[in-house]
Amino acid sequence: MITASYGACFGGIYVKVVLINGSPRKNWNTAQMLESAAQGCRDAGAETALYHIYDMNVKGCSSCFACKLLGGKSYGKCALQDPLKPILEEIWQADALIIGSPVYFADVTACTRALLERLWFASLAYNRERMVISPKRLPVGVIFTTNAPQEGFHKALNDLVVRTMGAFVGPTELIEANDTLQFDDYSKYDASMISEEHKRRRHEEVFPQDLKRAYELGQRLLEQKP
Ligand SMILES: Cc1cc2nc3c(=O)[nH]c(=O)nc-3n(C[C@H](O)[C@H](O)[C@H](O)COP(=O)(O)O)c2cc1C
Repeated sequence: MITASYGACFGGIYVKVVLINGSPRKNWNTAQMLESAAQGCRDAGAETALYHIYDMNVKGCSSCFACKLLGGKSYGKCALQDPLKPILEEIWQADALIIGSPVYFADVTACTRALLERLWFASLAYNRERMVISPKRLPVGVIFTTNAPQEGFHKALNDLVVRTMGAFVGPTELIEANDTLQFDDYSKYDASMISEEHKRRRHEEVFPQDLKRAYELGQRLLEQKP
């Protein structure tokens, strides 16, 4: 479940970045973008922990409202006991957060959605004076990978995630890798509308630049550390 964790120091201060892979695939586009972002963080002196959450049997918000129960022990925290719970706790201990997801039907993947529901809803109170009850602010990077050919194709999704993350977690920067390579061998699949030649060229020429942008995102996030 956790694939990378390296200790390091940042000017004598310990800095920790949690990365979440919401793709079911642990070595493909989203995972590679996240590995590159993690490397950027480590080269800037941080410790990183990358979680592949798809296999964890995670659940979305159960609407138990324990996170809003006045005087309750889970006030402001998600009470649902599953493998996401310790990860949510680790996120609030961290100095930066990076979430990666493929776009599935113009949304994040189901497991990413489960995490976002619980991260965001536990940080929200229906309170006129104080709607945001998150324990702190931390910088966030979001990485989406898409089959869609260009950035901003899923603008409504991007806007929602940047706005909501910005409200409940911290200043959020989103980058995308578009027109990604989806299979090893296109001739084996029913995919005649896609040109394998185009996909391979794109993967060789553009994806390395996407990886570099992910690396730089990782480095930039740490410049905003508290
Ligand atoms: C179930 C499913 C739904 C998808 N829906 C979209 C979509 O709405 N828009 C899009 O641009 N790509 C869509 N894709 C393509 C993936 O987002 C894209 O290939 C992504 O880079 C895959 O990430 P991965 O290689 O990390 O698994 C979809 C793929 C799958 C499997």
